[in-house]
Amino acid sequence: MNIILIAAITADGYIARDSNETVDWSLDLHLFKEQTMGYPVIMGSKTKKTLTLDLKGRNEIVVNRNDKPKTILNEIKADKCFIIGGGTTFTRFSAHLTHLYITIHPLIFGTGVTLFPNLKREMNLTLIKMLPVQGRENLYQFQYKINH
Ligand SMILES: NC(=O)c1ccc[n+]([C@@H]2O[C@H](COP(=O)([O-])OP(=O)(O)OC[C@H]3O[C@@H](n4cnc5c(N)ncnc54)[C@H](OP(=O)(O)O)[C@@H]3O)[C@@H](O)[C@H]2O)c1
Repeated sequence: MNIILIAAITADGYIARDSNETVDWSLDLHLFKEQTMGYPVIMGSKTKKTLTLDLKGRNEIVVNRNDKPKTILNEIKADKCFIIGGGTTFTRFSAHLTHLYITIHPLIFGTGVTLFPNLKREMNLTLIKMLPVQGRENLYQFQYKINH
């Protein structure tokens, strides 16, 4: 199964100003919707609280600290699923990821929630595609394969 991290990040590597922020600065929500539609989406409980809408057409799996990433993933029957945040959840699922889809936004936050807070391991990536975000000049989603 492909296990794909998908995120909007700033040029200095942040996904939110703080854990309670509703991300309203993402410019590629239509791409997020198109790519995740029909697939399971896994998120942390804090991210769920920040969402203003349900993600229709996608099986939302909300995890908390007692859930084991491997157990959650083993229960999924689809050929791919998306890990949609936030940072704590990205770090907890990091050992299982196969791909990263990140859209680098022209913003600098300086502080906030990083893509992988407290990550204890390095990852080596291969860029497989730079997808232009439709309707947004010079905004790209970088698609990487992870070489574990
Ligand atoms: N830019 C983007 O693409 C993007 C995408 C998604 C989210 N975000 C933003 O990311 C922010 C939330 O990120 P986050 O990292 O704070 O939260 P999160 O990953 O959404 O949720 C926190 C997770 O960590 C667990 N946790 C808390 N303390 C723990 C511990 N000591 N040990 C193990 N697990 C623990 C929580 O479980 P419990 O329920 O048990 O506490 C929960 O599952 C929000 O602002 C959201 O808007 C941005």
